[in-house]
Amino acid sequence: MSDLYPVPEGFAAQANVGKADYERDYAESVRDPNAFWARAAQRLEWMTPPTRIRDVSYDRGDFRIRWFADGELNASVNCLDRHLATRGDKTALVFEPDDPAAEPRHVTYRELHARVCRLANALRSLGVGKGDRVTIYLPMIVEAAVAMLACARIGAVHTVVFGGFSANSIADRVRDSGSKLVITADEGLRGGKKVPLKANVDAALKLPGTTSVETVLVVRHTGGAVDMQMPRDRWYDAVVDGQPDSCEPERMNAEDPLFILYTSGSTGKPKGVLHTTGGYLLYAAYTHWAVFDLKEDDVYWCTADVGWVTGHSYIVYGPLANGATALMFEGVPSYPDASRFWQVVDRHKVTIFYTAPTAIRALMRDGDEPVKRTSRASLRLLGSVGEPINPEAWRWYHEVVGDSRCPIVDTWWQTETGGILITPLPGAIDAKPGSATLPFFGVRPAIVDAAGNIQEGACEGNLVLLDSWPGQMRTVYGDDQRFFDTYFSTYPGMYFTGDGARRDEDGYYWITGRVDDVINVSGHRIGTAEVESALVLHPKVAEAAVVGFPHDVKGQGIYAYVTLVAGETESDELLKELVAHVRKEIGPIASPDFLQWAPGLPKTRSGKIMRRILRKIAENAPDQLGDTSTLADPSVVDSLVKNRQGA
Ligand code: WT7
Repeated sequence: MSDLYPVPEGFAAQANVGKADYERDYAESVRDPNAFWARAAQRLEWMTPPTRIRDVSYDRGDFRIRWFADGELNASVNCLDRHLATRGDKTALVFEPDDPAAEPRHVTYRELHARVCRLANALRSLGVGKGDRVTIYLPMIVEAAVAMLACARIGAVHTVVFGGFSANSIADRVRDSGSKLVITADEGLRGGKKVPLKANVDAALKLPGTTSVETVLVVRHTGGAVDMQMPRDRWYDAVVDGQPDSCEPERMNAEDPLFILYTSGSTGKPKGVLHTTGGYLLYAAYTHWAVFDLKEDDVYWCTADVGWVTGHSYIVYGPLANGATALMFEGVPSYPDASRFWQVVDRHKVTIFYTAPTAIRALMRDGDEPVKRTSRASLRLLGSVGEPINPEAWRWYHEVVGDSRCPIVDTWWQTETGGILITPLPGAIDAKPGSATLPFFGVRPAIVDAAGNIQEGACEGNLVLLDSWPGQMRTVYGDDQRFFDTYFSTYPGMYFTGDGARRDEDGYYWITGRVDDVINVSGHRIGTAEVESALVLHPKVAEAAVVGFPHDVKGQGIYAYVTLVAGETESDELLKELVAHVRKEIGPIASPDFLQWAPGLPKTRSGKIMRRILRKIAENAPDQLGDTSTLADPSVVDSLVKNRQGA
């Protein structure tokens, strides 16, 4: 029997969604999704209210996913203009800089509106309009939110690239999206270290296939020296200053694209996940209100970077659509020391805190003292996202960080889902450490076996979703076929998540992790094929196989097996060079933790690499290799086991 953490009575009494509400509304949401979502859609301000609600078929011949298809709205109006009358002087964003000695900044809804309008006008004056793509490569500063909302205001499609990606990764994304304009900063600042953002953009735009970019806007942030290439490069301030602080919003159809966000899949090429305006915004706003039990006076802090979907949905679009006060933190949890998160909580009286298990595990290693030296009395709700949270970390988060007072919402979702799909609602659903618990309104999860048969009762298998929800991605940008093949062909008629899951006797879901070739390193998604492609680009590498292995802090680490071309010699220098090469090709987040020379890789007679065996070797479980007799050359396994890297 697993332990149960019931909803605290005091919390239940004031919750946005109570137990009875959840049961009643969930039942309605799956029985009559049209009625349910028509009502929910009234949370948004529409220019033309939708009369058509759900229009979905997952069938091959008839495939379509459309929500609110005759509705019109503008996302920036929903996040800004509609709050001006009642919340104009309320803080929309609190900016907490990397350096704790620097002054935090508070941006009201009125000021944010004006800043967004000025940039939107500037973008229009630079020839950017509805449907054009804009790449945003910025640190966690207010301009990142301003840039996203300015795009939304004029109907341009933003594609945010995480600051930890390299020039090559920027170029891949610019090329695939055909971006006309890039918004970046001179440098980023994280944990006291500078990140050369503008220099990375310069290097990216020297690479082939990036000539769609006409303009680069540069925010002066650290004041560091940068190369300005005229007339392409323009200082952000110079372009924005003097622009009017109002701007006519573009009328967008609910199904017009809002953004593209690249994420890793099981092939070498990241997918451009496309989200549209109406369904995405409604789903982000509704889940943010219900899952985080949002109240008017809350100070809400999500520690994600805007470069990930969590930052899109739960720093920018969800909170601002709800008129919330959201905190943006430029830095890292360990700088200047392991107490930083909690000091920021105290400084800004944060009430709702949302972070990733990897951060919790890293902080847990530093013990209770850095937490206990702070008050944290303002906190009332904690959240977790990005990977399964181990019960030990869950309990530490609950007892030490939340002083056993605050419910925890363990929220399962994906870049593709736009918003949270499986989660406790904190006033309605009792928690079990390590379980994402029950589906959100309208979400119909199921567990299937390998043949796609839906399992009943307590069971384990692959996690699928039987019906659509408004926040669902609409396509892989420029590749409808890949969208269908990736998500809807494995189990016909269902959306396949790529995750494995278990359901217990109470109907609670326990996500067990990816069942495809995607690994999750510190909550960042990385395709093993992407790292392999990067490695084989090196002239000395003949072949590479990359797997994930369990890592105490990161959840999973990256383990690479490399076969050199004939005549090349293995050396520590080459090993370092290859790791640096991956950092350059993809970015620091994809650096292999271990790299092992593999004179041969375990392959079937048809030449397929047996990753199962490589995973077992990497996780130091040589007794669980299973049947190796079907290998073309079983002897390679022994030498790999003998030369395994790591503890
Ligand atoms: C994958 C999606 C959702 C925003 C951040 C990651 C894993 C995510 C949980 C959770 C267990 C989780 C899944 C999923 N994941 N949240 N609460 N419990 N696993 O978005 O980069 O698209 O990654 O992250 O494996 O498929 P993403």
